Amino acid sequence: MERYPILAADRICHQFDGGVIIEITQARIFTQNRFLISGPSGCGKSTVLGMLSLALKPDRAQSMIFCQQDILKLWRSGKQDKLAALRSKYLGFVPQTAELLPFLTLEENIALSQKLLKKDDPKWLMQLAERLDIVSVLKHKPNAVSVGQRQRAAIARALAHRPLLVLADEPTASVHPALADEILKLLVETVEDTGSALVMTTHNVDIGLAYGLKEAQCHLDPKTQITRLNLNG
Ligand SMILES: Nc1ncnc2c1ncn2[C@@H]1O[C@H](COP(=O)(O)OP(=O)(O)O)[C@@H](O)[C@H]1O
Ligand SMILES: [Mg+2]
Repeated sequence: MERYPILAADRICHQFDGGVIIEITQARIFTQNRFLISGPSGCGKSTVLGMLSLALKPDRAQSMIFCQQDILKLWRSGKQDKLAALRSKYLGFVPQTAELLPFLTLEENIALSQKLLKKDDPKWLMQLAERLDIVSVLKHKPNAVSVGQRQRAAIARALAHRPLLVLADEPTASVHPALADEILKLLVETVEDTGSALVMTTHNVDIGLAYGLKEAQCHLDPKTQITRLNLNG
């Protein structure tokens, strides 16, 4: 049987004013693929995730199919609502710092993606909380728990609606190295349990490689100032 990728993109580019041009030359992301996008600060890793997460419009692009939808067509016709709907249904995002809503408890933060989709699943939420060891702090607000607990809650939030693809932008960069290792381990193991694909960025490749992620390097051509990246699962 033929395997269809969750996401297939060819030559999609973005450039901020005066910045480097970032090109995803080719991406084929399948279920259970786990990628580590590496490269120095400023090379374009977050921009890549922005385009993959349907949040950042590519300036120039050949093709981009996500969950059998023609994403470039949606961008061209200004279908922001449709892009947002695809994003909330199929994607989970773990930011560098947890970015939880401060007026909600951890539990309410985590449940938000399920609520938006009208798919409450408290049992799954509790399993995630157990997996990530935050059960005892679920009723707390973000400012009453530790940085590590907030980051683990952000992982639970990204997985609560069982997304097909989890994107994580330097999810361990803002925590202590010992904690970073533990958080990454939990992220990879939880994604393994759910069967979601994972694409995460880092400037610390060593810890990601230890968990079997496939490295994809951002290459900045110093002459042309173009960063290119291939993601092939
Ligand atoms: N919001 C923005 N506005 C203008 N330029 C930006 C913005 N975000 C990033 N850039 C520029 O785009 C390039 C790539 O940035 P980024 O994707 O954040 O790299 P990385 O995540 O690898 O550090 C850099 O040259 C940066 O200065
Ligand atoms: Mg970045």
